[in-house]
Amino acid sequence: MKKILAVETSCDDTGVAIVREDGFVECHLEAHQNSIHERHGGIIPELASRNHVYHLLPLIQSVLTKSQHSWEDISCLAVTNRPGLIGALMVGLVTVKTLALTLNKPFIVVNHVEGHLLSPFLWDQNSVAPPNISFPFLALIVSGAHTHLFIVKKLGHYHLIGQTVDDAAGEALDKIGREMQLGYPGGAKIDQIAQGVSLGTFVFPSIQLKNPLNFSFSGIKTSAGKKIQTLKKQKDKNWRPHLCADYQEAIIHHIVSRLKTAQKKFNIQTVVLAGGVSANSRLRMHSLAWAKKEKISLWIPPVCYCTDNAAMIAYAAFHLFLKKQYSSQDINCYPYVEDYE
Ligand code: KG4
Ligand code: ZN
Repeated sequence: MKKILAVETSCDDTGVAIVREDGFVECHLEAHQNSIHERHGGIIPELASRNHVYHLLPLIQSVLTKSQHSWEDISCLAVTNRPGLIGALMVGLVTVKTLALTLNKPFIVVNHVEGHLLSPFLWDQNSVAPPNISFPFLALIVSGAHTHLFIVKKLGHYHLIGQTVDDAAGEALDKIGREMQLGYPGGAKIDQIAQGVSLGTFVFPSIQLKNPLNFSFSGIKTSAGKKIQTLKKQKDKNWRPHLCADYQEAIIHHIVSRLKTAQKKFNIQTVVLAGGVSANSRLRMHSLAWAKKEKISLWIPPVCYCTDNAAMIAYAAFHLFLKKQYSSQDINCYPYVEDYE
């Protein structure tokens, strides 16, 4: 079976993976920079780029060694070239272009969001193989930078039906995590702190938008911010777990309600959930319970493939590789994406 080696450097995680044509992940490694950016309360783009320079080639070497592969076993290379931090993307793209040129192998550039979107179809020795992708499916991407709802009629064609009008879901969680000084990334910390905490201490607004398929998190976030300012004046810090639990629940409720509306409106029976926030325990619990009740086929990636990783980039490159749609050496990288169609 053909194998692709992929690189992902769109933000602060350096990722390298080797993935088989059927979505089986032979090896994936990530070098995280959380402790570096934590000190600054957010991602510093230049530090992210510099750390990709430091980590990337040793990580490529480690993935080859760990999977016991040599370059002869790799049919193609893949790399994220959009959207993301431009300096960070440049490190990955130039590295892959250079490897492709010197090894005389094809390479393919991948949209990071498309990578997330197809990540539910990855599997490894610790998980079961998902079924073959059945079209059309509904895809919800919830990450630190994106909150997008798509209808996918075929690979490579992503019809955007809803998106956030302000913050991304993960961004709203991270900002409140930062206000509570929980560490980075705030979304994962809030999830940890809220485990087993009873709900109902704090009430958050229920947000209604003209377009019921769009998302808005700023009202819930502002409400949390105001509460924190008042609560911080208290000596007693016992409010924190309750605020984490109720805030998280309000964000997750907003996400799941849009998903349900979209599924009903388009009557699509296959749904995928992906992106860093799809690692959230409450989002997984609520959406799986809904899917079971409504007999919907719901696919969420194993937690290790929810946040940024290179395995999803390799898998997303396969449909282009099979059609021999390789990228050329004059391709560039882009901080934004205009169109997903
Ligand atoms: O997909 P990702 O790694 O990067 C982007 O493409 O943005 O997502 C990172 C986001 C961060 O906002 C982080 O707080 C959030 O995913 N995240 C979580 C959890 N784990 C990561 N949010 C809620 N619960 C989690 N368990
Ligand atoms: Zn991402």
